[in-house]
Amino acid sequence: MAHAIVYSELGGPEVLTLTDIEVPAPGEGKVAVRVEAAGVNPIDGKLRSGLRASGPLTAPRRVGSDGAGVVTAVGEGVDGFRPGDEVVVFGASGLYASDVVVKASSVQPRPPQVSAAAGAALGVPVGTAYQSLRSLGVGANDTLLVHAGSGAVGQAAIQFAVLWGATVVATASPARFDRIRELGAVPVAYGEGLVDHVREAAPDGITVAYDAAGTDEAIEASLEVVADRARIATIVRGADAAGFGIRAFSGGSPDPLSPQQLAWRAEAVPVTLALLAAGTFSVELGPALPLTDAAEAHRLLAAGTPGKITLVP
Ligand SMILES: NC(=O)c1ccc[n+]([C@@H]2O[C@H](COP(=O)([O-])OP(=O)(O)OC[C@H]3O[C@@H](n4cnc5c(N)ncnc54)[C@H](OP(=O)(O)O)[C@@H]3O)[C@@H](O)[C@H]2O)c1
Repeated sequence: MAHAIVYSELGGPEVLTLTDIEVPAPGEGKVAVRVEAAGVNPIDGKLRSGLRASGPLTAPRRVGSDGAGVVTAVGEGVDGFRPGDEVVVFGASGLYASDVVVKASSVQPRPPQVSAAAGAALGVPVGTAYQSLRSLGVGANDTLLVHAGSGAVGQAAIQFAVLWGATVVATASPARFDRIRELGAVPVAYGEGLVDHVREAAPDGITVAYDAAGTDEAIEASLEVVADRARIATIVRGADAAGFGIRAFSGGSPDPLSPQQLAWRAEAVPVTLALLAAGTFSVELGPALPLTDAAEAHRLLAAGTPGKITLVP
């Protein structure tokens, strides 16, 4: 029997429960995937707790948008996938499950060099980082400040920016500095003295700032070191961005992403898969827990566990 994680009320990690599910045959344009790993993202916890509004809970709600696995069946009109293909799933729903049926547009072939866990780590983080940096026009003449550079989005942002020729300064806790350096950025500690630390790390100045931390400190520091507010963006404080005069990409923003921005989010996964296959992109994996331990996975996420946490059905 197929199974999935659901919640029937908003609350702490304990509201996540395992349930049996029916998996329909894939309809037109859809693909059935046996999930080998599901990525755990902060948004999953925010939706579960009600921190991010998501409409009335009238039926048990599934969790998770990213995963990787093996195609088990394809619907009519689906070209390019066959049962047995190893794939990455992104931008879908209900991935905390043993089996899913998703749109073919949410599926990408997974190269042999990319493990299921690494594939499951991509969707939200790389989609967000890639789209944000494209929207900000980050390029070779830039010095980019990334807040929360040691997180999944931050690590992706550092790597795209470095690949595109930018110089990158990234905040993290000191225990994570080695990882930041490994990715090609200069680490600085968040907390007291942040602006001074950033100025020391980038004596020629910061031209663009990207907030994946969501703290007042991150936004205030960005405002202090970047002259052009159109080159400061947050992905966490979307509701407050207009008040600061900065840009927001989702994260509670009242403004939806543009068609171009949505296209960049979708493009990010195949671009990253090609980089991973070429050995020029790196995903930091964290604990892999059984699907039945979804609640524990959310506790580990809230506790700031390094690396992408995955669930294994
Ligand atoms: N708008 C969107 O579309 C979108 C998409 C994806 C994510 N997000 C949001 O972006 C945020 C990051 O996501 P993620 O997946 O990268 O999370 P993550 O992998 O869990 O990483 C969280 C990061 O926050 C850092 N951090 C903790 N306290 C901090 C502080 N006081 N100041 C600066 N950094 C601090 C941690 O750094 P250390 O471990 O080094 O302490 C860690 O690197 C989340 O709030 C998430 O909901 C938004």
